Amino acid sequence: MTGKNATEMLQADRAGIARAARILQSGGLVAVPTETVYGLAARADDASAVAGIYAAKGRPGFNPLIVHVDTLEQAEALAEFSPQARRIAQAVWPGPVTLVLPRRDGAPLAAGVSAGLPTIALRMPAHPVMRALIRESGCVLAAPSANPSNAVSPTTAAHVAASLGGRIDAILDGGACEAGLESTILAIRHDASLEVLRPGPFDLRRLSEFGPVGANIAAGIEAPGQLRSHYSPGKPVRLAAGMPEADEFMIGFGGIAGDVTLSAGGDLTEAAANLYAALHSGGASSQPRIAVAPIPETGVGAAINDRLRRASASR
Ligand code: TXA
Ligand code: MG
Repeated sequence: MTGKNATEMLQADRAGIARAARILQSGGLVAVPTETVYGLAARADDASAVAGIYAAKGRPGFNPLIVHVDTLEQAEALAEFSPQARRIAQAVWPGPVTLVLPRRDGAPLAAGVSAGLPTIALRMPAHPVMRALIRESGCVLAAPSANPSNAVSPTTAAHVAASLGGRIDAILDGGACEAGLESTILAIRHDASLEVLRPGPFDLRRLSEFGPVGANIAAGIEAPGQLRSHYSPGKPVRLAAGMPEADEFMIGFGGIAGDVTLSAGGDLTEAAANLYAALHSGGASSQPRIAVAPIPETGVGAAINDRLRRASASR
């Protein structure tokens, strides 16, 4: 945080975006809505601004950040794009996909952004507020999810204010995030193979034309943010529960009701959008434990179950 004032709450209108852009230009930290979750943004070329992200989140220094761009030209100034990588970027951006690529020599990035890795994670988000902010500030923006390290990611400005209020310069309120899960992370290797490092909202079947897609989700070494215990609501979480026990806050799905439901109609896209709000509610409830109904492993259900397994892993 650069100033000694409390966190500014800004509406995501022209005036709010202009104010946020000035804060970012001068090295401050602003929480920003994207189509996935809220990000905690700082200019990616400023070492002390980037250090501020790690400090505000309590994030371990070995866990690198995603850089958000407005144009492919900005992305190509930061990473080496093979023709294959360029075709993939053109097919999936803007949208909820992060590409891990070789970092370009001399790229104007603070060293802390990639935490010592020779690669860089890049994303062109689809959310108009995040895009306007990159344009207005003239800065590419490093932005992890806007939550304390290991806690549940935020999908509303209120989630951010409850956990990072007073520790960051401003929050741009652009309403609830549409997808509700962090981006799909895809590494594009030198040998042209593709590897999913984190499942997310993106339908991987759309990548099949670019070659076979492997998964390295469990390894958790190259994408250190993929720690086994993550997204913790601060109390035990029991999965695949048919009904709650007396001391459990129940998160329902489909035919299984609860204190809240991810989707009464059993719609997985709706469930993804509601997942983190449900975990925040369960964390804030008076019950000491949380139970979650079974979620099918199909489509975005695989990404929901990935987050739920990490939320339930004992720490
Ligand atoms: O949807 C999203 O991706 C959100 C919004 C704000 O864009 N951001 C987000 O950031 O989820 P974060 O920091 O919570 O997760 C970033 C993940 C971490 O697991 C990190 O380890 C991984 O990306 N990552 C970053 N740079 C990497 C790299 N060079 N190679 C492999 N993994 C990387
Ligand atoms: Mg995160």
